[in-house]
Amino acid sequence: GVWNVVTVLFRQGRADRTETIDPADNARAAFEGARGGEVVTRSTRNGEGSIYFTVATPIEVAGDLVGVVAITSNSQEIDRLVRYEREQILQMFTLAVILSISLSLMLASTISNPLSDLAAAAEMGRDRDTRRVAPSRVRIPDLAARPDEIGRLSVAMRGMVSALYDRIDANEQFAADVAHEIKNPLASLRSAVGSLRFVKKDEHRDKLLDVIEHDVRRLDRLVSDISNASRLDSELVKEEEEEFNLLKTLSNLCQYLSQQAGEKGVDFIIDLPSDAISIHGLEARLAQVFVNLVTNAISFCEDGDAVRVWARRRENRVLIVVEDTGPGIPEQALTKVFKRFYSERPQADFGKHSGLGLAISKQIVEAHGGVIWAENIRPTAADPTSEPLGARFVVGLPV
Ligand SMILES: Nc1ncnc2c1ncn2[C@@H]1O[C@H](COP(=O)(O)OP(=O)(O)O)[C@@H](O)[C@H]1O
Ligand SMILES: [Mg+2]
Repeated sequence: GVWNVVTVLFRQGRADRTETIDPADNARAAFEGARGGEVVTRSTRNGEGSIYFTVATPIEVAGDLVGVVAITSNSQEIDRLVRYEREQILQMFTLAVILSISLSLMLASTISNPLSDLAAAAEMGRDRDTRRVAPSRVRIPDLAARPDEIGRLSVAMRGMVSALYDRIDANEQFAADVAHEIKNPLASLRSAVGSLRFVKKDEHRDKLLDVIEHDVRRLDRLVSDISNASRLDSELVKEEEEEFNLLKTLSNLCQYLSQQAGEKGVDFIIDLPSDAISIHGLEARLAQVFVNLVTNAISFCEDGDAVRVWARRRENRVLIVVEDTGPGIPEQALTKVFKRFYSERPQADFGKHSGLGLAISKQIVEAHGGVIWAENIRPTAADPTSEPLGARFVVGLPV
């Protein structure tokens, strides 16, 4: 029975092969060995040199040999199978390589290249600063049209760069303004000191000394105003905001300023609501704003004029108004008065004012999320050619 199984096996195998050697011979030879209970492997070579492998293994049940299974195969066929598998693997491999190359090319063109363009633009800015005397401005590519994160990144970087340049410009402008402002009193000082050498009369000498003293005071005030203004930004951020009653602050400073008005013969009218107005912010800084506005108003008033300070709360905001019956503000200067160093005053007041008061006030009000503006009081508000009856400064603050 055992032998039948083996021969059937080999007959099937033989049908599709063209061999000159009889694989049954091999099997038979291995079969004899396997009967001894061992696994037998054989290899034989036929006339054409191709090799046959034969394996025979005994089948035992409970120690008794019940049969032997033997298999013979041509080595060329095994090689062919292996080659076929290898070709298959190679094809997959090539496909994978092509796919990953095209994928990375695609990623490079849509992600890597724009990113490295952005990086290059940013780096160029850094290098240029060290190499050139007058660096040109950094230009970040505009990828705002892209709907993805790279588009957002480019928008954010462009925003950041332009904010930085705005800041740099503002600082440069400030430095230039400061230099300009300091030059005037210095020039006056220099000519006074120069003339001092040549004047003989004591009264002339005293006059020149007065001029010098005035210039020095002016410089002193200018420098302290400038240093206050330039520190304001960082100090506004540093100082702790707190809850306080704006009405109390206003009435305190009005009390003290009404004396100043009284000395000049100026009426001082205070009109504040009875209910407390609680505000979250920097009390000392906001007080500085109203002191600036009221002292400006008083300074433009003459004997018989009046200054009025009033405040009202409306829902989520509070309006504080400082009005005077002075000469008003030239129409074209209504916004300019808030610029740094803008000061337009009668000759007698020359040198007593730095022109920083309203600029600082605006900065403080805006840091509190408020607004400040100037307007003229007119008989007919719509007609700017009509003679103003006074100036009005309005501050609006969120409560
Ligand atoms: N109440 C006012 N009436 C008329 N002009 C004013 C008034 N307040 C301010 N101004 C104008 O705004 C300018 C700027 O004011 P400010 O910034 O306080 O600087 P300064 O008081 O040092 O001149 C003043 O020089 C003046 O021309
Ligand atoms: Mg002022």
